[in-house]
Amino acid sequence: MFEGIIRMFKEKDGFVSGEEMSRRLGITRAAIWKKIKALRERGYVIEGSTAKGYRLIKTPEFSVEELKTLVKGDFGKEIIFHESLDSTNTLAMELADKGISHGTIVIANHQLKGKGRLGRTWFSPPKGNIYMSVIVRPEIEPKDATLLTIMSAISCARAVRNSTGIEVKIKWPNDLMVSERKLGGILTEMKSDQDRIVFAVIGIGINVNAHLDAFPVDVRAVAASVIEELREGKGIKDCSQEISRTLIIAAILNELERWFKVLIKGSKIQLINEWKKLSSTLGRKVKIISGRDAISGIAEDIDDEGMLILRLPSGGLKKISAGDVIMLR
Ligand code: BTN
Repeated sequence: MFEGIIRMFKEKDGFVSGEEMSRRLGITRAAIWKKIKALRERGYVIEGSTAKGYRLIKTPEFSVEELKTLVKGDFGKEIIFHESLDSTNTLAMELADKGISHGTIVIANHQLKGKGRLGRTWFSPPKGNIYMSVIVRPEIEPKDATLLTIMSAISCARAVRNSTGIEVKIKWPNDLMVSERKLGGILTEMKSDQDRIVFAVIGIGINVNAHLDAFPVDVRAVAASVIEELREGKGIKDCSQEISRTLIIAAILNELERWFKVLIKGSKIQLINEWKKLSSTLGRKVKIISGRDAISGIAEDIDDEGMLILRLPSGGLKKISAGDVIMLR
């Protein structure tokens, strides 16, 4: 019902009469008034005029109702929102195990036990960042799982670029980077049989409206956020107000829709080529840290399973499947 009202506002871009809303939604004028009141309580600024009806002035920085009006395909058809969760990935894994459908997303405003790659913690403060997990049921073999991460990184990087103008790049395998600082990360978890992935959860964390001075010192030194990048004039948006998480999330979901189809069609080359276009890693001198091991070389390529191909100082090549990349000068 809320979505119906928001859709009408967007269609008209002006006043919509209470009478029209009531007729189109099949509810009384009094019920419409209650819905408008509830939307205002959720942060919508709606002007009311006895003669002309209602006009939407401003939407909140995040709104599930608005997100539903922007989703075009399977991704985000079901949205599970919590103000605060331990981890959206943890809940999404539980729900996926119980059979929840492909494309369902879990979103929170705040995570108490946000999980990062390699067993790390993902700092997840309550003000205005994206913490989202997407449940997918891809018909691919476990050996192609890295491609899921690759297609998610492509989708997030393109979505943030297109919705903010910030030149986001991907550091192998899946860090979202801007000016060598980390804007976001992706944690893919999955359940698989011997020969197929039963389901996977793509966990996406992006710093949007967070003020980096609230981050722990060690994180602050290497982190970026959308609002701070825009403040430095690196994008296209006005940053005098909070940035709409709704628009960024909708853009991610619509990109995921597109790139998931590419993955399922088996067009590995298309995925790898897009990843390469967005990569900040290839051609650079890097150090890869994996557990206690460290190895340096030039990041030369990625193969069609998403492994990083490193040119060693000896001239030989080495394929890397996991680790942390440190860019060397
Ligand atoms: C990384 O270490 O780069 C991956 C970070 C992934 C963080 C996101 S936030 C939403 C989802 N829920 C989690 O607990 N982690 C992922």
